[in-house]
Amino acid sequence: MFGSVLLLCLLLSSSGSLPPPRRSFLLNSSHIPVRSFRLQNVTTLFLSSDSSTLYVGARDAILSLDVSQAEILTQKQEVSWRPTAKETEDCSMKGKNREVDCPNFVHALLPLNSTHLYACGSYAYSPQDAFIDLLTFSMVNANGHWRRCPYSPFQRSSALALDGELFTATTTDFKGTKPQISRHFSRDGRPDVSLDNFASLLDEPAFVSSSADSANGKIYYFFTESGNEFRFEEKLRIPRVAQVCKDDVGGRRILQKKWTSFAKASLLCRPPNRPPHNVLRDMFTLQPPEGSDSSETLFYGVFTSQWSGQSESAVCVFTLQDITTVFSGNYRKLDKNSQRWIPTSGRQLGKCGLASSSDAILEAVRSSFLTDSSVKPVRNGPVLVSAEHRYSHVAAMKTRAANGEEFTLLFLVAESGFLHKVVLFEPEPQIIEEVQLFTEPQLVRSVVLSSVKGILYVGTSEGVTAVPLATCSAHRTCSQCVLSRDPLCGWSQSRSVCTALSGSEEDVIQKLESGNEEKVCPEDRSPGEIREVSVGLNQAVRLECERPSNLAVLSWTHSQMESLPQTLFIRSPDGSLSFLASAQTLGSYSCEAEEAGLKEVVVSYTVLLKPTPRSIGPHPGVEKDFEDIPTETPTPEGSENTPDHPAPETTATAVPRMKASPDVPTASESKTNPPSFRTDSQISLEAPQAERSYLGALQVVSVLLAVCICVIFMGAFFTLRQRKAGLRSCHLLPVKDGSKKDNSMEISSLGSRKEASTELNDGE
Ligand SMILES: *[C@@H]1O[C@H](CO)[C@@H](O)[C@H](O)[C@H]1NC(C)=O
Ligand SMILES: *[C@@H]1O[C@H](CO)[C@@H](O)[C@H](O)[C@H]1NC(C)=O
Ligand SMILES: *[C@@H]1O[C@H](CO)[C@@H](O)[C@H](O)[C@H]1NC(C)=O
Repeated sequence: MFGSVLLLCLLLSSSGSLPPPRRSFLLNSSHIPVRSFRLQNVTTLFLSSDSSTLYVGARDAILSLDVSQAEILTQKQEVSWRPTAKETEDCSMKGKNREVDCPNFVHALLPLNSTHLYACGSYAYSPQDAFIDLLTFSMVNANGHWRRCPYSPFQRSSALALDGELFTATTTDFKGTKPQISRHFSRDGRPDVSLDNFASLLDEPAFVSSSADSANGKIYYFFTESGNEFRFEEKLRIPRVAQVCKDDVGGRRILQKKWTSFAKASLLCRPPNRPPHNVLRDMFTLQPPEGSDSSETLFYGVFTSQWSGQSESAVCVFTLQDITTVFSGNYRKLDKNSQRWIPTSGRQLGKCGLASSSDAILEAVRSSFLTDSSVKPVRNGPVLVSAEHRYSHVAAMKTRAANGEEFTLLFLVAESGFLHKVVLFEPEPQIIEEVQLFTEPQLVRSVVLSSVKGILYVGTSEGVTAVPLATCSAHRTCSQCVLSRDPLCGWSQSRSVCTALSGSEEDVIQKLESGNEEKVCPEDRSPGEIREVSVGLNQAVRLECERPSNLAVLSWTHSQMESLPQTLFIRSPDGSLSFLASAQTLGSYSCEAEEAGLKEVVVSYTVLLKPTPRSIGPHPGVEKDFEDIPTETPTPEGSENTPDHPAPETTATAVPRMKASPDVPTASESKTNPPSFRTDSQISLEAPQAERSYLGALQVVSVLLAVCICVIFMGAFFTLRQRKAGLRSCHLLPVKDGSKKDNSMEISSLGSRKEASTELNDGE
């Protein structure tokens, strides 16, 4: 039954995905100041409560970085935490790879109390924990082999500290198959507590994160495990949330030193018309604003599907309120005979403070730990579905726009190496920008969002990267600022800049709801950037136009022509316009971008004839001055140009190359503000090398042509001789045609052949 439903789901494929990111910032873009601190295998990150220090767990080391200045990462202190040669040797003796598995990878790094950090590392496949004295930044005592984090550097675990006690979820054996959820460093003489091993409470869990609800004394763990309540041929993975009570001390006779509060529930994340997204990748806890009830805490989860393709993911949001409701509802227990999970009635289950309850109740707790209902996401489905991107991490924040309306921003790390900034607009979310974080695919292990600092920190195999949450200054005009639909940015009318909102906005223009954006900004008739281009006749010209956004539609206009005929102009997908300089095509061009009803001129060009000393004045449509070729090609910035008119980096070619070449270097990032004149125009940059190969090809073609003509003539000659007929005038035409072509080609190597053919002709 389930199988057939599943099949049906798989067959129904829906397109419902996000539109492309509005703007893209590549790694080397000058617009977005992404800073990196290079460090091998960054695994854990946390920001000090005053946001001035970033603590980093990496390979064989723990560091503190000074982040008091936004976007700048400088090292403060470092403790080395490396296994000894003997320990590494032991690790490799156990069949583990010395380089890959045997260093010490820090799994957990967190503040335990006001004076100490707690750390746990894989430590040559023999996990160890340690304390770090914050005052001296030194390791106090490497505490020995307590198995509070996984042996494998690649297995995920979770740890958090609350009131000086440590709560962990990890595997505790070499193979990584024995899961454990426990409390350590228990205070006031109460015992440390862990999972009951009477029943298998967890089945191959992959822990993702944990979160504390200190107001209600509960800890929640998020993970994916095998769902043995389902009968399915394939092992079915199920995303879950589990709870324990922070102050649980275990039962007196039954469940001694074991959780009496452990319970688990399934999480649902199912996009419409698609298979359920059943693998939880990451879960971000968004605390409610100061003063709100903790039940308003939100959990943002990234889910992928066990079945669907490689690049698909969804984000579902859960409320703490819904989670607590499910845990205080009905439970199921495993029926020993039928091996099925059947509903039970037990009012006490899932509550805190059961330690002194009767044996009967504790027996019920022991066997009934799975809730009857699942936790449904807000609005019963994902807030975002992407068919193209496989996200691995999420961070969320809420912000107030200039008009006081609240918006949710998501920062999603895609496996492709891009960070997507998404605003959850109604009815459809939008990726307002993407930022490239790294070029080589690599493991992202930790993401920290600081809305106070306006920075997102990402920990990867290569280091820590700091990305600003907003890049308002990258939007140079009012319309670009408004079109960005970034709740964090607004156009300041008094200062004429796109600026980050500060909270006391008087004169900013911001319009976040989609639709026609006309008349939002003051009338802007600016000609955009102005550039001048000098060209020779018949020269190939390429005018570039940088698309201000991926959603903008570009159009070109000419001062004289109504429309630009396709016979004369080539438009490339990158927005550039190519044509051959002629009397008709000289003049002024402007490139206009249109988006959401808003038009603006991006760039304007004036294409002029280049003054040349030897020129006898421009002859529209005449044959080329062939002798120009050798003098112009090798030195693009020819000496014949006056300093006032430096030559554009173009080449005059006898036969123009009109093909749009995507590998021509694109416009540089630096753009001067209008109105400024630039003559170093980005027009057809044909490297001398390309020119040479082009001439080579021309020679080959010409030679072939000449050979063909020869063959035709020989054939004709012999036929004629044989027939001895008086049809001589007929084959004079091709001869003339051919010789004319040869002339215009001006290829020296052709000379002899040409002579040969004329000789042949004369012979007639
Ligand atoms: C940025 O990097 C891309 C590829 O990584 C490259 O093609 C481009 O030329 C670079 N741009 C600049 C301005 O360095
Ligand atoms: C913090 O924890 C460490 C390690 O357990 C302990 O030595 C230290 O006394 C604690 N400090 C405070 C202020 O509780
Ligand atoms: C450590 O970094 C290397 C690349 O620098 C990567 O191949 C490896 O998977 C990383 N190991 C872990 C445990 O993240």
